[in-house]
Amino acid sequence: MQIAKEEIMEILQAYPQEQRYSLAILQDMQRKYNYIPREGMEALAEYLGCPLSSLYSMATFYKALSLKPKGEHIIKMCDGTACHIRGSARLRDGITRLLGIDNGETTPDGLFSLELVNCLGSCALAPVVVIDDTYYGKMTVEKLPGLLDTYRRGENT
Ligand code: FES
Repeated sequence: MQIAKEEIMEILQAYPQEQRYSLAILQDMQRKYNYIPREGMEALAEYLGCPLSSLYSMATFYKALSLKPKGEHIIKMCDGTACHIRGSARLRDGITRLLGIDNGETTPDGLFSLELVNCLGSCALAPVVVIDDTYYGKMTVEKLPGLLDTYRRGENT
């Protein structure tokens, strides 16, 4: 992904040049790009006059921030106990077969990322898959291709 310098400057300049805003700025970058681009980190360090290493520590500490590019759609695959008993491993294999990605990976076209997570709090609907913010309960391997296609066609944005 090509990151425009002007876009990054726009995010930075929405805040005063004070270190206490670094997390808020990183969160804005995460929202915009779905990850924190290296160019963004460097520009932020320069803008705030702080060491790049302290920004990297912050970005690796907060789980909501990612230093690796993520897909446009994040598939959260529950691997909690209830979902595991009801076949989440089969779903994971199905996603890997259909998209060629495993936990923590992103498809080469940048459309999907897969994340294995613990209980999503909807055990009665196990096995559960969440794509972006939408929950899909009682998911089956058979339903996966059709569901992913709706995202490919941009029907869920
Ligand atoms: S174990 Fe999957 S939602 Fe609870």
